[in-house]
Amino acid sequence: MNKDTLTMINNRTNEQYEFDILDATRGPSVVDISSFYKQTGMFTYDVGYTSTASCRSDITFIDGEKGELFYRGIPIEALATKHSFLETCYLLLNGHLPKRAELINFDLELRHRSFIDENLHRLIDAFPDSAHPMSILASGVSALSSFYYEHLNVADEQEYQDMARRIVAKIPTLAAFAHRKSLGIPFIYPDIDRSFTENFLYMLRAYPGGKMRRTVDGTGDIMPIEVEALDAIFTLHADHEQNASTTTVRNVASTGAHPYVAISAGISALWGRAHGGANESVIAQLEMIGDVNNVDKFIAKAKDPNDEFRLMGFGHRVYKNFDPRAKVLKQLQDQLKDELNLDSKLMEIAHKIEEIALNDEYFIKRNLYPNIDFYSGVILTALGIKRPMFTPIFVIGRSVGWVTQLMEFRNDKKSKIARPRQLYIGE
Ligand code: ACO
Repeated sequence: MNKDTLTMINNRTNEQYEFDILDATRGPSVVDISSFYKQTGMFTYDVGYTSTASCRSDITFIDGEKGELFYRGIPIEALATKHSFLETCYLLLNGHLPKRAELINFDLELRHRSFIDENLHRLIDAFPDSAHPMSILASGVSALSSFYYEHLNVADEQEYQDMARRIVAKIPTLAAFAHRKSLGIPFIYPDIDRSFTENFLYMLRAYPGGKMRRTVDGTGDIMPIEVEALDAIFTLHADHEQNASTTTVRNVASTGAHPYVAISAGISALWGRAHGGANESVIAQLEMIGDVNNVDKFIAKAKDPNDEFRLMGFGHRVYKNFDPRAKVLKQLQDQLKDELNLDSKLMEIAHKIEEIALNDEYFIKRNLYPNIDFYSGVILTALGIKRPMFTPIFVIGRSVGWVTQLMEFRNDKKSKIARPRQLYIGE
């Protein structure tokens, strides 16, 4: 049987080349150009990798045209509304949802691994109070490679799983410590009697000695609805195929560098405002707009080709239809509106922007829809979480995706060091 191929003709020389077409189980087929240089003596040019598949993967699938997202074949809507973040972590790391006993063991293991070495406390202490939590988090995760370096044999599956679980368990603790450091208040150690997500809120909010502030109803505890909302936010961020930070993780891992250092590089890549840092920028922008009456002026700025201003939380490289994660969060936001006393002024401005942009020719023509960051910031604000912690919360969710992608990279016999070429235009 003939293989499906793509034929290319060089119109300078009339030479003809053939490349294999590889079929995906879902989504567009891919042309295998690994022999392109060998066959043609030329490189391909694709700034920002807009047409390049850098690996094979069976973890996450996005249909950008339909606005669909699946982890291991399961739609994101089902995971975010019917399963916990820990179940999603297990699914990503192991390829299937956990049975009851598997989930209990996984949960217990993460609780026990959530503590960090006392020397890491001292490292965090040495940062200035003004340090952004993302800077502390990237450094803390990189530093884990000093604490666990000797014990990691990357060829051993069990050790790799241990490393993965350590990352997922310790990142919330590092993030909470980073937050408390920026406020100049004492660190709160993890409470192993609390669930993963509740424990994170506890480490952010508790008073020294582990006491919680008493609420009006006298319970002094964290509301279940807050835990559910944050848990869904973690799930929605857990993986997103070969985005900028995941590609960074794979690229760093491709050199043989230590996994913790690769994850730390992913954290740095995520920080940028064109990527995970957008959630912080959305709220900053809503506050800057300040009033619904100013929205038209800022929409005009966003549309002006001579103005660099962009509407934060709008647009996506892959989604050319509504971001499915944003859809889930929009529902969640509406659901929480009354119960969590959402900041109505910010919500009013956000609603107006959404309404105008969704009906405006400029945004429609360019397929610019609200993305996940447009809604997550408003929900996190309602949970009493400070703006600089928005991107660290993205990191907590995404860490499991990075580790899963890193493990897939390591297990793929075709993996190579990432080494693109260039179109040289110098002297
Ligand atoms: N506001 C106004 N115009 C926009 C916006 C926006 N948010 N996003 C894109 N455009 C316009 C561009 O100016 C460009 O217009 P043109 O064709 O007239 O030149 C067109 O839409 C295409 O934009 P690109 O930048 O080429 O699209 P790209 O796929 O490279 O960028 C990105 C995607 C980075 C997300 C972009 O839409 C953006 O900057 N959005 C705001 C930041 C943001 O919300 N980032 C979070 C993304 S989700 C995540 O990482 C979790």
